[in-house]
Amino acid sequence: MKMEAMEAILKNGRKAILKSPEEEDAEDLLNYMKIMSGETNNVLRYPEEVTLTVEQEKDYIRNNLNNERDFNIAAFIDGKLVANAGIFGVDTKLKVRHRAKLGIAVIKDYWGMGIGGLLMKHCLEQAKENGYEQVELDVVTANTPAVSLYRKYGFETYGTIKNAQKTKDGSYQDHHFMIKFLQ
Ligand SMILES: CC(C)(COP(=O)(O)OP(=O)(O)OC[C@H]1O[C@@H](n2cnc3c(N)ncnc32)[C@H](O)[C@@H]1OP(=O)(O)O)[C@@H](O)C(=O)NCCC(=O)NCCS
Repeated sequence: MKMEAMEAILKNGRKAILKSPEEEDAEDLLNYMKIMSGETNNVLRYPEEVTLTVEQEKDYIRNNLNNERDFNIAAFIDGKLVANAGIFGVDTKLKVRHRAKLGIAVIKDYWGMGIGGLLMKHCLEQAKENGYEQVELDVVTANTPAVSLYRKYGFETYGTIKNAQKTKDGSYQDHHFMIKFLQ
C-alpha cells in the first residue's frame, strides 16, 4: 500500500518527509541499502549482497505499493532518502495472516534525530489498521539503539538464538526474537 507524504519536524528542528518510496526512488533506495549495510554489522546484508538492478527494485516497489496490507515508509531530508522501514506479512496463509515482520534502518549521519521513532510509530499504527495483530522481529542482542527503540515501542523479548549471524571476521552475534501485540 502507499503511505501518502507526511511532514515531520525532527528533534533538531529539521524537516523530514515520510512517504512510501515510489518507482522514481528505486536507485536512491538501492544506494541507501548499500550505504546503510556498510555502516553496521547489525543488519543481515553486506553491501555487495544488495544485488537487485534498478529495474528489479522498481518491480519490488510497484508490488509493494499494490499490496493491500504491506508497505514501506521512507524518510527524506532535503530530498535525500535517509531511512526506510517496512511491514511485511509473515505469509498469506489464513493461519498466519495476523502476523507481520518489521524492518527498519536509518543512515548513520541521521541517527539520534527521532527518525527511527517516527517510522516505528507510523508502521505500528498502519499495521494495526491493516489488520495485523502482532509485529515480530529479530535483532542482534548487542544492538543497544535498536533494542532500546523496540522496547520503547512496546516490544518484548520472547527468545534468543545463539550465533544467529557470523561476520566476515569469524565472530558470531546472537539475536533476540521480539514481539509486540497490537490489540
Ligand atoms: C536503531 C535505529 C533504527 C534507531 O533510529 P534513530 O533514528 O537513531 O532513533 P531515534 O532517534 O528515533 O530514537 C528513538 C529511540 O531509539 C532508542 N535509541 C536510539 N539511539 C539510541 C542509542 N544510541 N542508545 C540507546 N537507545 C537509543 C531510544 O529508545 C530512543 O528514544 P529516546 O530518544 O526517547 O531515548 C538506528 O540506530 C539504525 O538505523 N541503526 C542501524 C540499523 C539497525 O540496526 N537497524 C535495526 C536492525 S534490527
